[in-house]
Order: sequence, then structure tokens, then C-alpha cells
Amino acid sequence: MDTPDDDELVRLAREAMGRAHSPYSKLDVGAALVTASGQVFSGCNVENASYGLTLCAERTAVVKAVSAGEKSFTDLAITTSRGEPLMPCGACRQFLREFGAELRIVVEGQSGQRLVSSLAELLPQAFEPADLASEGETGSAQ
Ligand code: THU
Repeated sequence: MDTPDDDELVRLAREAMGRAHSPYSKLDVGAALVTASGQVFSGCNVENASYGLTLCAERTAVVKAVSAGEKSFTDLAITTSRGEPLMPCGACRQFLREFGAELRIVVEGQSGQRLVSSLAELLPQAFEPADLASEGETGSAQ
């Protein structure tokens, strides 16, 4: 499967952003996540009248991918309805980190300005799955 380029990935994130359910914040967010096999899973933010239940677009995309059997990701595009590019929230950075640090992240606002970074850059010194290895496995004397 051909891996989509950034323009196509941003287009897919925008398409998903069009389906955002964001009556409370009025901020529409879209995400498009590429798997190592070249598939794309998109997502939008889904708000709830019980505000704390809100799901971010990035996590929607991850949950769709994982429930389809995909856990290896290469690129993520994020778009929002604001002019300037908005970076992913801390919760989403941690949620993404579960599946590796080498994710390339492209963020674009309505202005068309594009910022490219990586999860390793956006979440340095992360708490990660390996931190849950038993003491024996990590070689600790305790
Ligand atoms: N939001 C996302 O979808 N992704 C982020 O990384 C930050 C915030 C959504 C959640 C909520 O629907 C709205 O933006 C305002 O916080």
C-alpha cells in the first residue's frame, strides 16, 4: 500500500475534522494516523455534555487503529479549525507513546502553516511501557 504524503494526510485529517462533535468548545480537531503497513485511520474530537468524557481526535484515531489490529504507526497529521497550528495535548502525547516514540507529527491550522515534529521531541523522558517491566528484568538490585 502506498504511504500517503503529507498533503494527502492533512487532507484526510481535515476531512475527519469536518465530522467533529464539538458543540461546547467549538474547536474542531481532526487526526489522520498512518500505520507501518500504509493504512490510514482518521479521527475527530467527540465532546460530551459531561465534559470530562471528551475524546480528542488523536485518541479517536489510535483507538480505531488498535481495534482494527494495528499498533505500529509512522506518521500523524493533526488539523484544527483555528488559524494557527495547535499542538497535541499532553494526554494524547502519552496515549500515543504507548505505541512508540518514533512517530512523525505534522500539525496544520487553517492558515496552512505546517509544523513538523516527532513524539520523541514532544514527550521527552516519557513514562513508557518498559517502565512497567519487573525489577528483575530491569536489573535493579532492589
Ligand atoms: N482536542 C483534541 O481533539 N486534541 C488535542 O490534542 C487537544 C484538544 C479537543 C478536545 C476538545 O473537544 C477540544 O479540542 C477543546 O479542548
